[in-house]
Amino acid sequence: MRGVIPIIGYAAVAMAMLCGIGCKDQPAAQKTGARQYTIGMSQCNLGEPWRVQMNADIRAAAEKHPEIKMIFKDAQNDALKQRAHVEELVSAGVNAIIISPKEAQPLTEPVAKALEAGIPVIVLDRRVLGDKFTCFIGADNKLIGKAAGKWIAGKLGGKGKVVELKGLMTSTPGQDRHSGFREGIKDSNLEVIFEADMKWLEPDARKEMESALARFSQIDCVYAHNDPGAHGAYLAAAAADRAKGTMFVGIDALPHEGVMYVKQGILDATFLYPTGGQEAIDVALKILSGEKVPKEITLGSRIFTKENVANGGQAIGTESSD
Ligand code: FRU
Repeated sequence: MRGVIPIIGYAAVAMAMLCGIGCKDQPAAQKTGARQYTIGMSQCNLGEPWRVQMNADIRAAAEKHPEIKMIFKDAQNDALKQRAHVEELVSAGVNAIIISPKEAQPLTEPVAKALEAGIPVIVLDRRVLGDKFTCFIGADNKLIGKAAGKWIAGKLGGKGKVVELKGLMTSTPGQDRHSGFREGIKDSNLEVIFEADMKWLEPDARKEMESALARFSQIDCVYAHNDPGAHGAYLAAAAADRAKGTMFVGIDALPHEGVMYVKQGILDATFLYPTGGQEAIDVALKILSGEKVPKEITLGSRIFTKENVANGGQAIGTESSD
């Protein structure tokens, strides 16, 4: 008798898993006999509001298509876990994979293997290495970094002391937001007096900024690779009574995060980093219906400042070599 309950338990779990893929509220497409597709979404973490928004955008876009069933995986900022998630999606035989990888190198191989197994892979926001994926979708991080550099240099009259709080430097947006920024300030007299990898995390940014404040009596601007980082730096400066007289610039521009901080006067500027969630579903549907899609889709960005925030910000240029 003791063995029965676990067996029933396993059976129930198995049924629930199967039903998760097909039987619950038979979608319209299934009733009409149209083809059903399962798309796996491998998210590197859901700790930041921006990633919660990405999943919400994907879910909202997918819900408009009854023929799509989504499976979401959250790797909780663990690249090994994310590798395993991609492998699980391949074994489950999904029809397509969307992935926003934590880091480029560790996720390159599982993505390539998925592709070799015949599963199209759409890479979102952070890149993998090489070209073994179906389509990359994301904004031009070099361009954003460069625009941030030029904007800060302009605001500071071409000179001043800057703290750069970098995103995870093993991820491509961190690398590109850094190199773009350096390019943007190269003809100015801005001096980067302190730089640190805050790994995209607000608490890390706050700690790094505390070190910068302890070492330098003059900090004219903090350029952080994302809005949580800029906000963490602001909190450290405010706690030391040094927020006034320092500019804070971030990236992401979520309406309820960066854009709100600009409206509140906490950030001086934020640059839009679109999640690409809607585009990922559009591209997945095209691939699944046999259409050819471009290898790379570049999304636009906007700058929000106190002058333009009420009017929805302003688009930035389209060439990182501008
Ligand atoms: C969220 C995030 C965003 C950033 C993006 C870069 O995890 O750190 O704030 O813009 O990832 O990939």
